[in-house]
Amino acid sequence: MEKKVVLITGCSSGIGLSLAVRLASDPDKTFKVYATMRNLAKKERLIECVKSLHKDTLDILQMDVTSWQSILDARDRIVEKRVDILVCNAGVGLMGPLEVQSLDSMRQILEVNLFGTIQTIQAFLPGMKVRGQGHILVTGSTGGLQGLPFNEVYCASKFAIEGACESLAILLQHFNIHVSLVECGPVNTDFLVNLQKAELGDTSLQQVDDLTLNLYGKYLQHCGSVFQNAAQDTEDIVKVFLEAIQSPSPAFRYFTSGDVPPLTKLKATEPGGSRYISALSKTMFSSEEQ
Ligand SMILES: NC(=O)c1ccc[n+]([C@@H]2O[C@H](COP(=O)([O-])OP(=O)(O)OC[C@H]3O[C@@H](n4cnc5c(N)ncnc54)[C@H](OP(=O)(O)O)[C@@H]3O)[C@@H](O)[C@H]2O)c1
Repeated sequence: MEKKVVLITGCSSGIGLSLAVRLASDPDKTFKVYATMRNLAKKERLIECVKSLHKDTLDILQMDVTSWQSILDARDRIVEKRVDILVCNAGVGLMGPLEVQSLDSMRQILEVNLFGTIQTIQAFLPGMKVRGQGHILVTGSTGGLQGLPFNEVYCASKFAIEGACESLAILLQHFNIHVSLVECGPVNTDFLVNLQKAELGDTSLQQVDDLTLNLYGKYLQHCGSVFQNAAQDTEDIVKVFLEAIQSPSPAFRYFTSGDVPPLTKLKATEPGGSRYISALSKTMFSSEEQ
């Protein structure tokens, strides 16, 4: 049977790497995986994980989602000249009080998370439309469904992706092309290491008022305990991707921890939003939570 051609962005680590390894190691060799990363110097980790057993199911390509030329070059190197399953996974975070974020840092987040995702889709969508089939999966975040203090720009990028995907999904039904968001909570990856984060002692925070700094300290503790107690492993996330990929009629949204986060439900049922915002604040800042 003809292999399904899968292209994944951001495969140097984390979710992208685990998904590439799982699909390329499929016992039935169902997939031909193009694992892409912006820096090929980081490919050893992926190669080590697949132990070079998968020459016919895995190819590693350079692709920086912020460079249109790099996306086109990667597309040109796909032997099958088609992508059946596109996984837009590359993403970066930015954490700290909003008033200290430089325009360059904020742009960088939107360049990768929003425009990078959209440009990648733009490059592969015309081929899917011509063939009248395809599946676009995007690594979403609960930070794209509910706000997180000190993550305003990250959340803005992930909320924006929700809107872009929802809008596309409506249209692409007419082309037999599925769009799915895999909504992740905290996951044990390099994300927190790669995150641009203001540290409490940073000189950039000297201009910030005491209440904000106090709340930032509480938030960092909350975040630490959430990652320690509730973070999922990439294998858990990969299972959900597989469910979406293997479904004959994929859903638009998948929640990796099984259910809609409770506060997202409150948001949907309380349009005014005051109780919802208070509940979020209590969850993230109350000392009992830490
Ligand atoms: N981990 C979490 O808690 C969590 C929660 C919700 C959603 N997510 C989402 O999950 C996705 C994957 O993140 P992860 O957790 O697996 O973190 P990760 O280990 O840091 O992986 C992020 C990947 O994105 C790549 N990337 C960054 N900028 C890129 C660019 N310009 N072009 C191509 N690739 C680029 C990174 O490459 P480099 O190695 O070159 O930097 C890396 O391969 C992200 O979209 C993130 O927002 C993560």
